[in-house]
This record gives sequence, C-alpha cells and structure tokens, in this order.
Amino acid sequence: MVALLRRSCKKKMKRLGVLLSGRGSNFTAIAYNIAQGKLTGCEIAVVISNKADAAGLAAARELGLKALAIEARGRKRAEHDAEIIATLREHGVDLVILAGYMRLLSPEFVQAFPERILNIHPSLLPAFPGLDAQEQAFNYGVHVAGCTVHFVDEELDHGVIVLQKTVPVLPGDDAQTLSARILEQEHVAYSEAIARVLSGEYRVAGRRYVRAGRPDGAASRNS
Ligand code: GRF
Repeated sequence: MVALLRRSCKKKMKRLGVLLSGRGSNFTAIAYNIAQGKLTGCEIAVVISNKADAAGLAAARELGLKALAIEARGRKRAEHDAEIIATLREHGVDLVILAGYMRLLSPEFVQAFPERILNIHPSLLPAFPGLDAQEQAFNYGVHVAGCTVHFVDEELDHGVIVLQKTVPVLPGDDAQTLSARILEQEHVAYSEAIARVLSGEYRVAGRRYVRAGRPDGAASRNS
C-alpha cells in the first residue's frame, strides 16, 4: 500500500518525441544527458525521421530507443505531418524536440502541440534564419555568434526564444571551426532549454519568455 502510494505520488515522467533528418548529434546529447541524470523528469518516447537512412535514427536504435522512419517523399505535407502527429500522440508525447529536422511544419502540426514544440537554430535569432546560419554569420563578419532554442510557431525560425548561448568568433576561425564551437554550445543549450520548459516555471508575454521569479523577465548573460 505504502509503495503504491509512493508510486502514485511520483511525478509522471514527461515524454519527449524527437524529430530529426540527419546525424542527430543534438538528439544524442539529450539522450546522454538523460542517461547521466543531468536532464531529469523526462524520457525519450520516440525518435522519428523523415529519412530512413538518417544517422540519428541508427543512433537511436543503438541506444535501444523506439526509432521510426516516416518518409515524406511523394506525399503532401499535410498527410505526412498527420501521420507524424498521430505517431507522437500514440506515444504519449508531451514535448516535441526538433533536432535537425529539415522540414517545415504545417500549421496543423504547430497547432496540434501549442507551445510544445522546440527547435534549435545555430545562430542568435533573429539574425541568420534558414540554412547555413553559421556560414551566413561568419561571412557577415559578426564578432559574436551562437545558438537559439525557441518554441516553434508557423514562421521559419521565429517562435518565442527560450534560451540563447553566445560563441565568440576567434581570430583564425573559419565557418567550420566556428560551427563546431557553436555545436558544442547547442549540445548544452538544448537540454537546459528542455529542463526550463518542462519545469513550467515561466510564462510567455507576447514574444517574451519570462522566467518565474524574474518579474522584469530580465535575461542573464547567455540566457
Ligand atoms: C544543428 O546545427 C541545429 O542547430 C540545426 O541543425 C543541426 C542539426 O545537427 N537545426 P545534428 O543533426 O543535431 O547534429
């Protein structure tokens, strides 16, 4: 009886659904952080890719996670998205994690998980949305680059910003070395942002993500 009570008092694990299209280094960083107890209160329920040969999908299988390919080729976006939404629901997903998912989500998808879809982008948004953000930033001559974790809305790389990390551009950098250092920060930032969102200790005011206990919503450095 006591054990039963304890069990029912235990906080329910939040279930993450990861969508990816490629190598999946952000996904594996999240998976390792969960395995190592650095990211708590959640588990990965399912990993879905629009590419059957995505390295990230193979990595998910190696980690013993449920990994599914739902290919988009030859299908309308709405139909493909509907299958993904249904699969995420079947797996009881609370929070959708886009980790290098190279497809735009339909409005129906965004509306199916309101403020429950996160994306990571390798620039300090709103600068350099879209493809090859690190190269865009480097070629523009920025002195500070970085990454952004944001809620997904119906516009590309546009939703409310949960967290950003800055990365200085160093003498001798090229687009590749800069990308590599941004990626290191992405691997830290994504788990931090997931923890923040799962904690529920925030509110969204217009475009602003306001952390609880910070009435002015002031963001600290690298936040
Ligand atoms: C990352 O740079 C991420 O910011 C962007 O796509 C890339 C995915 O890399 N959205 P990986 O597949 O997680 O290694």
